[in-house]
Amino acid sequence: MGDILKMNRMMIIGTGSALPERVLANSDLEKMVDTSDEWITSRSGIKTRHIAAKGEETSKLSTAAAMKALEMANIGAEDLDMIIVGTITSEISMPSCACLVQKNIGAVNAFAFDINSACCGFLYGLDIAEKYIKTNPDMHVLVIGAENLSARVNWQDRNTCVLFGDGAGAAVVSGSSSGRGMIGGRMYSDGRLHKLLWMNSAPSMNPALAIPDHDGSYIKMAGRDVFKYAVRALSQAVTDVLDQEGFDLADVNIVVPHQANIRILKSLADRLDIPLEKLYINVYKYGNTSAASIPIALDEANRAGLLPEGEMILLCAFGGGFTWGASLLRW
Ligand code: UT7
Repeated sequence: MGDILKMNRMMIIGTGSALPERVLANSDLEKMVDTSDEWITSRSGIKTRHIAAKGEETSKLSTAAAMKALEMANIGAEDLDMIIVGTITSEISMPSCACLVQKNIGAVNAFAFDINSACCGFLYGLDIAEKYIKTNPDMHVLVIGAENLSARVNWQDRNTCVLFGDGAGAAVVSGSSSGRGMIGGRMYSDGRLHKLLWMNSAPSMNPALAIPDHDGSYIKMAGRDVFKYAVRALSQAVTDVLDQEGFDLADVNIVVPHQANIRILKSLADRLDIPLEKLYINVYKYGNTSAASIPIALDEANRAGLLPEGEMILLCAFGGGFTWGASLLRW
């Protein structure tokens, strides 16, 4: 608890999440592609995922999650200084999803922008917010991870369509001198591996810049390779952030990881030599919601009373880019 003396940490003061109403079960997918509940469950741990309908676009889900986080933080939207949305599936390319959220909630005093770092969007967002808050602890920042991946999967491709889901999670953060808050983070990228997990943009309107043989703007993934890198990279990030901040795994009370696949989480727990029970897991309900998965899990754990004050929480994520990272927080 030596870290408790450090001042001006970025603390999460409110969380919120929102999920589309429609739930798609593995039994529904069996009628759409050549798959089975048994295959999906045994290979991924996923049983259901939420699928957005009209009116549940990324900015709308983000707005609903933001309102809940603001309510818990007990501040008004006009008190926000900055809004960051991690997303790769905003419903429009310009303006940013963050600007749409700003408009929807009336955060007239904030500046707003999106970041594209796939499943690491929320972690990268928290990391950026922390740097601002360290120099100006009075700031209030809204960090969101939100996705509408169902709009960007190929529903004929059984390799990918069974894995992803839609949703949004949000956190309101501000400065605190109580010793609670973010202790530190480690973020990484390796663009050399981008073709293992990627998604084309829409076809270009400028023929000179058109991508030859554009085969749709769907998520494409070399699942086995991603799996191997994910386990290695996640355990490296976790070890590095603990070393950097002078802690070890025994100090961590709960790990809230990106929810991609139960087998990745089991392999991670094995590699770190920690019991699986130390990980908060909800992938079976929501599938892989990319940038939204950590803030949804965090909000769920928070509202269920699973994050007692003073406990050490470790967040870690891995995704397209590749991007990966880990953050350590005193709750
Ligand atoms: O957010 C981070 C991004 N993504 C991830 O973390 C995902 C990482 N990867 C994975 O989770 C796993 O690699 C998958 C769950 C995607 C796939 O599991 P796998 O054990 O690596 O299976 P595989 O891709 O090697 O495929 C094995 C077999 C293949 O059939 P053949 O070639 O052996 O006859 C696939 O065609 O399973 C087949 N298959 C399916 N069968 C039924 C692939 N998808 C399906 C499906 N239903 N949905």
